[in-house]
Amino acid sequence: MSDILIESVLQERRQFPPPDAFRGRAHISSLEQYQRLCQEFQRHPQEFWAGWAERELHWFRPWEQVLDWQPPHARWFAGGQTNVAYNCLDRHLGTPRRTKPAIIWQGEPGDVRIITYEQLHHDVCQMANALKTLGVAKGDRVGIYMPMLPEAAVAMLACARIGAAHTVVFGGFSATALQERLQAAQAKVVITADGGWRKGQVVRLKPQVDQALAAGQVPSVERVLVVRRVGDAAMTPARDVWWHEIQAQMSPDCPAEPLDSEHVLFILYTSGTTGKPKGIVHTTAGYNLYAHLTAQWVFDLQEDDVYWCTADVGWITGHSYVVYGPLSNGATTVMYEGAPHAGNPGCFWDVIEKQRVSIFYTAPTAIRAFIKMGDEHPQARDLSSLRLLGTVGEPINPAAWMWYHRVIGGGRCPIVDTWWQTETGGIMIAPLPGATPTKPGSATLPLPGIQAQVVDRQGEPVPVNQGGYLVITHPWPGMMRTVYQDEERFRRTYWEQIPPRNGQYFYFAGDGARRDEDGYFWVMGRVDDVINVAGHRLGTMEIESALVSHPAVAEAAVVGRPDELKGEAVVAFVTLESHYQPGDDLKQELLHHVVQKIGALARPSDLKFTEALPKTRSGKIMRRLLRALAAGEAPQGDISTLEDQEILAALRQS
Ligand code: WTA
Repeated sequence: MSDILIESVLQERRQFPPPDAFRGRAHISSLEQYQRLCQEFQRHPQEFWAGWAERELHWFRPWEQVLDWQPPHARWFAGGQTNVAYNCLDRHLGTPRRTKPAIIWQGEPGDVRIITYEQLHHDVCQMANALKTLGVAKGDRVGIYMPMLPEAAVAMLACARIGAAHTVVFGGFSATALQERLQAAQAKVVITADGGWRKGQVVRLKPQVDQALAAGQVPSVERVLVVRRVGDAAMTPARDVWWHEIQAQMSPDCPAEPLDSEHVLFILYTSGTTGKPKGIVHTTAGYNLYAHLTAQWVFDLQEDDVYWCTADVGWITGHSYVVYGPLSNGATTVMYEGAPHAGNPGCFWDVIEKQRVSIFYTAPTAIRAFIKMGDEHPQARDLSSLRLLGTVGEPINPAAWMWYHRVIGGGRCPIVDTWWQTETGGIMIAPLPGATPTKPGSATLPLPGIQAQVVDRQGEPVPVNQGGYLVITHPWPGMMRTVYQDEERFRRTYWEQIPPRNGQYFYFAGDGARRDEDGYFWVMGRVDDVINVAGHRLGTMEIESALVSHPAVAEAAVVGRPDELKGEAVVAFVTLESHYQPGDDLKQELLHHVVQKIGALARPSDLKFTEALPKTRSGKIMRRLLRALAAGEAPQGDISTLEDQEILAALRQS
């Protein structure tokens, strides 16, 4: 976050109490009610969660123990059995929700599909049977690489129904990135589509899958299930099968498998500070309960709401708040295939107007892009159906918050700025829209049941309004269980950065934050080598590894630079092998190489060639220095440990 932004949030004094009209019908309608819930948790943490689990989920078998906490390992509702697909589908069928739209899907060209709970249940059962036919059994992993189609949600729920773990890979990732994730998860089947519509163009996905699987590179993958969206795709005999062809043969009868609470629901890969992405593991009952409750509390879901979260299913937000949270609550969730771009600056507002969306949840980077596109686009649409707005993915600057409030919300909609992570499973710090007065730029207060603090490296709370590390000090049901097949990394990354003291463990989120005099949290951004580009987490090491895999590159260092639109932009510093010359062609080639290796989202905005990288005497790259240079600022602080002082002057010229 830039200094200008930090300045402006430090001076932010505006407050917005929940509007009376909103508060009147909200689930949690006063600050006192919120505080009572917090106190209930504090007095009896286990009874608190047990009560919600009993009231809000269906259980095939009750649990024996609410929480088994062997730091850093938590088991929630151990001994119990439930099924996430059952909670999202079957239990609504005996109610008037049977004929209610579960998913309203809009394609980018404007085609619409409305899928009721009954229909969704039918489709999920068929796909679950198809997976079984293709050899998928309980405990297997299934890769999902799809555009935003209803079948993406069907695929996830079908896995959940039979106890196969899904690992969704964002459709914007390259074949290489897909391959790496399928290998790591040892997926048995991949579910994909021929392609989809994005920014006015057809984006083909199946060829990426073919490339990822070419030459037996991922031997675990036996079959590929392909949804038809854009036309045709080359099919590999004996391996590939069209979804519509197999569907026609499948029975819609497939009872949900009772699964142990701690049965793995999914693995989602996310960027960390080292080169390899981490497979974040979430399990059945705790995740289901947490996604369900937080969706209900934070979005105040009511029976007649039309709820739209614009996230892609390839990210955790798409898992928790496009699919599992809303469906578990029996809500109507909107899915949109496309993405806004210069050619359709009003596309989001068209969806809101057409589908009468009442709750809208998107990312600050999108909001800033819309501000640039001009007020005339939202103003030309009827947005009067909206009653609540939300943001996620990165800090929102107060100016963008105010625009969102005024131009999109018409001044009447509360805004929920929600802080959370892939690792937390669901929202951790956010306003309850009928209870919490909001302040532009602050995610406000932790949800009931969440113990958050801002501390120093020793775990000591820092004074009011001072910066520190954001930590969580008590386990919660939605927490990640481990890093897939890398227990050591799980401990090191999340539980040892701030060492435990007197039996107190600190979950380290990797974010810097401060707390103001009202206890409100102001999240300032990452403190580690993760950069947040347009709300997407990228590890600097990941991009560096991609760069050095090119024969011309000797060494590379990647840093984030504050960016007005994207929050942060990627800047790369590259040194070349001796027989290569810097030049524009090589620069383009390297940028393209990163796109090939990871995907367009990792493409550096700027790539500088340099003779050498600034290093400490012990050989560590001085990123602080590179960050300052990338931002066009003078490096601050001590540079006496810099091995070669002349590098600095050379870098300034580059
Ligand atoms: C950042 C996305 C400030 C943060 C749900 C976190 C935020 C990372 C906010 C997780 C917010 C997310 N305010 N920062 N409201 N929401 N972040 O795993 O740095 O893709 O650690 O999960 O996004 O990104 P992830």
